[in-house]
Amino acid sequence: MLKGKSILLGISGGIAVYKAAELVRLFVKEGASVHVVMTANAQRFVTPLTFQALSNNVVGRDLFSMQSESRISHIQMARLADLVVLAPATANLLAKMAAGIADDYLTTILLATTAPVMVCPAMNVKMWEHPVTQRNLRTLAELGHRIVPPGVGALACQEEGAGRLADTADILESAIRVLTPPTLAGRSILVSAGPTREHFDPVRFLSNPSSGKMGYALAKIAARRSARVCLVSGPSALPAPAGVERICVTTALQMGEAILEISSKQDAIVMTAAVSDYRPAQRAARKIKKSPEALSVLLEPNPDILGSLGAAKPPGQVLVGFAAETENLAQNARDKLMRKNLDLIVANDLTGEGAGFGSDTNEVTIIERGGEESALFLMTKEEVASHIWDRVERLFAGGKN
Ligand code: C5P
Repeated sequence: MLKGKSILLGISGGIAVYKAAELVRLFVKEGASVHVVMTANAQRFVTPLTFQALSNNVVGRDLFSMQSESRISHIQMARLADLVVLAPATANLLAKMAAGIADDYLTTILLATTAPVMVCPAMNVKMWEHPVTQRNLRTLAELGHRIVPPGVGALACQEEGAGRLADTADILESAIRVLTPPTLAGRSILVSAGPTREHFDPVRFLSNPSSGKMGYALAKIAARRSARVCLVSGPSALPAPAGVERICVTTALQMGEAILEISSKQDAIVMTAAVSDYRPAQRAARKIKKSPEALSVLLEPNPDILGSLGAAKPPGQVLVGFAAETENLAQNARDKLMRKNLDLIVANDLTGEGAGFGSDTNEVTIIERGGEESALFLMTKEEVASHIWDRVERLFAGGKN
């Protein structure tokens, strides 16, 4: 996700410095080239050697060291960055930034750079809550810096509250978002995901093995592209992607209700949910007792949510369905596309290895209403999601919306 991007990681002196090592590893793993700059106090917590080994680049630390300045000057450092990430950012660093003080390698770069700056504060809860710190943060936010707020919980100083450095995974996601072109900005997007559960007594239900991974990946990538995303999710173990509004439902009827309430306001709707086609006609109030007799459960059909969306589709809305099939994939998918009045359908062969329910990868064919068909190789669900949004964006650009 960060291939070809240059990230300058500024580290100031707090106990959370050790977490910055993990952050360097994550950035490098995503393909970024990382240059670390440490304040003098940061170097007292962890040696620059650690960051040099992880980033494979010399660590900037002394404005007046002929040695490091001759290899790469602070002005060059400021210029080469596509993004500056400050993690951990101490109260002292925030104060210096808000005042425009440039008295060391890091703060000099911060005045010289024109790259976006992401500030990830970490400090004692009282320092965090101090009106001066809060004022400085407001100043930085007004200047266009992105603030990744600290987490709440037990702090290294034995106190409880806000001040813990945000999770490194959240910092990585925020960095990816800042560096992703906002091609879906201003768009409202609804994604459904996961299975539904249809109970026939309080502890038993009909369902399917859907994990929600495909829908969550679609929501995450759309949010990265700056869309306003609502994720209507059946039961799933996955955490809500950052910056996405999630509505949790259990049954197909609840999912239909949640979706139809907001569907008319959406620019695009993608139904990845594996909605149960049937539900038990009755739900016993108590657990059905075991007996040696056979048990029949009468099933009645659930409404077809996507069918209703297609029938009431407002002009310009892009509607995308999924077709999970075990036979006649393309033909069944095309029939579904026409029957449900869709713009795109993503056909998914459930018999393929590494595709479909629960896996991290998928192998799909994207079929357009106009007939265009593209078969994608086996790839991660996030990559599949990127392809789907590329198609939807093309439909938007082609005057569909
Ligand atoms: O016709 P079929 O159920 O196979 O179509 C699959 C597509 O329809 C998926 O996009 C799925 O989310 C959606 N669907 C629905 N409501 C149902 C069943 C499926 O919206 N009751």
